[in-house]
Amino acid sequence: MAKIGVFDSGYGGLTILREIRKMLPEYDYLYLGDNARAPYGTHSFEVIYRYTLQAVKYLLEQDCALVILACNTASAKALRTIQQRDLPLLNGERANGRKVNVLGVIRPTVEAVPAITKTGHVGILATPATVSSESYVLELAKISNEQPLMVVQQACPLWVPLIEAGEHAAPGADYFVNRYLSDILSRDPQIDTLVLGCTHYPLLKEKIDLWIKAYSPKPISVIAQGELEARSLADYLRRHPEYASQLSQGATCRYLTTENADRFSQSASLFLDTPVCAQHIDL
Ligand code: DGL
Repeated sequence: MAKIGVFDSGYGGLTILREIRKMLPEYDYLYLGDNARAPYGTHSFEVIYRYTLQAVKYLLEQDCALVILACNTASAKALRTIQQRDLPLLNGERANGRKVNVLGVIRPTVEAVPAITKTGHVGILATPATVSSESYVLELAKISNEQPLMVVQQACPLWVPLIEAGEHAAPGADYFVNRYLSDILSRDPQIDTLVLGCTHYPLLKEKIDLWIKAYSPKPISVIAQGELEARSLADYLRRHPEYASQLSQGATCRYLTTENADRFSQSASLFLDTPVCAQHIDL
């Protein structure tokens, strides 16, 4: 029987895994953080695609029937090519004939936006690679044909390094939270909805909420992706019994990292508020 693989460049995907396991606790999960090569968000398309494909292949070799790219950067830059070019080959090569699939985080997030914004002005906070891909702008345009949304993007290149370094709760992080939020809201003061378009960013949510309370003249909804992705996966499994029926239900989760396993275990235990014992792997 197979597992669900959850992949991110580092710790960010844990914010997705936590919500998925809350909603679908019965399945077996395998989390992979490529911490040794994070951040992905400042790399080129070629590099992000190559790293992501290596991780996906690794998880499929470990008997995952589904791989969730719990990373916006990988979803924006690599998902389509992997789905269209690599998966048909990988599925063709599978000796047991069982199909595998790879899913991303952008579409489920985009679908939630129109019901949340009242002004129709939406801000996307994301890595430089996700911003340059324009994935959010294009996907939001597709689903809001009748009432086009005003979308403003803000690259936040220093947020992922702060989180990977374990500095996101420190007072020094305030400077960079302030900097990117002031920047995007000064470009469009009518924004009433901010999408955390990087799975690392919920780890800064407390500081983001405090900043909005202190400096924004009106309330702003901040969208984190975990619950949206969990709902979308539950729905996918209902619509695709051919995948759901392959999944084992032992309610376990294993953690893999390309960096130091002890450090990952320590940080992940803090983020998830539960003991984590990770294993080191090389991709
Ligand atoms: N969590 C990844 C995302 O959602 C961060 C990418 C990075 O490593 O820069 O985009």
